[in-house]
Amino acid sequence: MSERTVPSTAPLRARAEIDLAALRANVRALRAHAPGAALMAVVKSEAYGHGAVQCARAAVAAGADWLGTATPEEALALRAAGLPGRIMCWLWTPGGPWREAIEADLDVSVSGMWALDEVTAAARLAGRPARVQLKADTGLGRNGCQPGDDWAELVREALRAEAEGLLRVTGLWSHFACADEPGHPSIAAQIGLFREMVGHAEQQGIRPEVRHIANSPATLTVPESHFDLVRTGIALYGISPSPELGTPADFGLRPVMTLSASLALVKHVPGGHGVSYGHQYVTPGETTLGLVPLGYADGIPRHASSAGPVLVEGKWRTIAGRVAMDQFVVDLGGDEPEAGAEAVLFGPGDRGEPTAEDWAQAAGTIAYEVVTRIGTRVPRVYVNASP
Ligand SMILES: Cc1ncc(COP(=O)(O)O)c(C=O)c1O
Repeated sequence: MSERTVPSTAPLRARAEIDLAALRANVRALRAHAPGAALMAVVKSEAYGHGAVQCARAAVAAGADWLGTATPEEALALRAAGLPGRIMCWLWTPGGPWREAIEADLDVSVSGMWALDEVTAAARLAGRPARVQLKADTGLGRNGCQPGDDWAELVREALRAEAEGLLRVTGLWSHFACADEPGHPSIAAQIGLFREMVGHAEQQGIRPEVRHIANSPATLTVPESHFDLVRTGIALYGISPSPELGTPADFGLRPVMTLSASLALVKHVPGGHGVSYGHQYVTPGETTLGLVPLGYADGIPRHASSAGPVLVEGKWRTIAGRVAMDQFVVDLGGDEPEAGAEAVLFGPGDRGEPTAEDWAQAAGTIAYEVVTRIGTRVPRVYVNASP
């Protein structure tokens, strides 16, 4: 992730300002939402586009007990960057870096027998036990071991490997399908099945340090799902998991990323002037156009063409026509900001700027995707790095 340590006022084509004080405050707010549980900061996919190492450091400084990533490579990169403590990763494929993970003291997830076989083989080679968390599919229908015979076999074989000193089962865990839909019947059903699957494993002799199923929406709205640990991703970055649940402020959260750019050009055009590829937009009369030097290569959704909002000199403007690879245009309605004037795509909203949620609505997607897709060509500028 490219990083600038320039002062926050230095001119850049575009910048994603990452407010680490907001991130630390979000960690504290989330701890207050789940006071009886440990907190895992989920920093996969470059911390949802915010920068994994910087956000992981800030989250740990603010009291996160665990870090979580999808891939082992992401977790190994955190360790290599010097992050101490517990780091869990859950998305494994055959032939993955099991031995490196064991040697880096990662907690690894196992959803089936192929993975148990590979992790025990790696533990033999490494000459030390792996820290393994068994994942149950309680209804998401994605990763995780099916209940019934599959779970019984996985638990039995994990216990056998534990007795041989090849691993220690540190966790039993699962993941929700619909926690962002309050009252969805699958939430209670998944918690019920999770209790049963954990109960079976514990009866057989598994002694997990942590049992966990809650993501951000469950952390914020389903207290009975907290168990020993909550795994929060999107809420850490100050974004509500879904507008139906509430705004970030409703949960005491503050958006961490502000995406802005310097206008590359401002010019007068006559009425009837086509704008951008395909001339989807034609100026309704004489006007001024502002060129925003960000495009779909930077993660600006092309689906936000003719819809995405941008704040320029205190006014919301809408993308005029198509988002191109590197740039898009806004109709400034005759206003004449200088080239270099700031265009704010989204941020916390304090200055009247749109939010990532506004962009999600404009593009027909979720705010998770809006922030996570901001590309590596946009420098992240970290502010309030020291507590
Ligand atoms: C297994 C797992 N746990 C937790 C999370 C965090 O979810 P959220 O960002 O909704 O908090 C994710 C992200 O999708 C995940 O894949």
